[in-house]
Amino acid sequence: MNNNHWQFDTKAIHACHRPDPETGAISQTVVPAVAYAFADAESAAACVSGERQGTYYGRYGNPTARTLEEKVACLENGEACIGLSSGMAAISSALLAFLQAGDHVIVTKDVYGGTYNFITKMAPRFGISHSFVDCTDPAVVEASIISNTKAIFVETPSNPLLTVLDLKALAEVAKAHKLPLIVDNTFMTPCLQRPLELGADVVVHSATKYMNGHGDVLAGFVVGRQDVVDFVRMRVSGDLGQNLNAWESFLILRGLKTLGLRVREHCANAAAVAGYLDAHPNVMKVHYPGLASHPQHELARRQMKEMGGIVSFEVHGGEGAAKQVMDRLELAMISFSLGDPETLVQHPASMTHFSMPREVRYEQGITDGLLRLSIGLESAEDIIADLEQALQTLPEEDQA
Ligand SMILES: Cc1ncc(COP(=O)(O)O)c(C=O)c1O
Repeated sequence: MNNNHWQFDTKAIHACHRPDPETGAISQTVVPAVAYAFADAESAAACVSGERQGTYYGRYGNPTARTLEEKVACLENGEACIGLSSGMAAISSALLAFLQAGDHVIVTKDVYGGTYNFITKMAPRFGISHSFVDCTDPAVVEASIISNTKAIFVETPSNPLLTVLDLKALAEVAKAHKLPLIVDNTFMTPCLQRPLELGADVVVHSATKYMNGHGDVLAGFVVGRQDVVDFVRMRVSGDLGQNLNAWESFLILRGLKTLGLRVREHCANAAAVAGYLDAHPNVMKVHYPGLASHPQHELARRQMKEMGGIVSFEVHGGEGAAKQVMDRLELAMISFSLGDPETLVQHPASMTHFSMPREVRYEQGITDGLLRLSIGLESAEDIIADLEQALQTLPEEDQA
């Protein structure tokens, strides 16, 4: 079915999915099978060699995952997609698809802590070097390219400081040097930002977050050209065993049906919370691309459909005050994840970015008093009332 004319919400529900031809069941059939039988030896060989399309072993693909992969490729406007067992599986496989011993990768300087760990601890063991670069300036990125640079990896908006990068400008730099631009689109989802349409080559996701949206699945996606996705499927994920299973594919397919609805509500609530925090005397700084004070506010308005559901803020009084606010929150839950229906709060310095050396963390602006909120789908009034009662309890000496 040609569904190019559909709006995003329609695609999220109907793209690449029709009722089961045998039963008429509308919701996706779960096929948990690992092994698939062939009519004869010739068809088995043709499937393994790639001559004939088909599923032959669960580590290389699954029919339920296949429906999900087609849908995500359609939502991101990419040629192909592979579902993987986590966002880190997607990030590491996408990088390993382009990098080998002796290669160098440029990485935006404020990336998710797990990506930072992979780049600084695991990749060097395989002879892959890196430079963390301030990617807010494409000229700096260009100047950082060296003879063995083989990829540029960015995340926008970044975790936890919500730095926004100009994807179009970065894609131009990447193209001029024939380098693939890989973009972590976790915070935005294709509902708010489609990097491939802006010139990026590969999109990666932690589908654990908004894409599934219910806090009950770990998953990731790599979206891009068919040959890149095939390589990740057969060589990287196929060999390392990072496949996504049928049950989790089913849950994500269910979650995707409400992606647009959920994301819009997360954004509306986040905008209300950011405005509230921005005016609060106990709050030193709010990081949210929707605020006019955000350094890339204008770019964010151009590049992102809405501003996302994450708000970070710094309280006066450093780590002690930040942790006190966290402990006093009654509705918001202390948790590492994001993109769930529940409002979640975390202290990056001691949680998601704990493994980053303190001086690097400070250099990036991840202060001891920084808190990251993943704004949930509760009523904005209740989220704000919860923050109000927690911020009010800061002792006098910690106030401005
Ligand atoms: C921006 C971003 N990318 C990737 C990941 C890793 O995802 P996962 O936990 O699914 O491996 C996270 C996790 O928080 C994230 O925030």
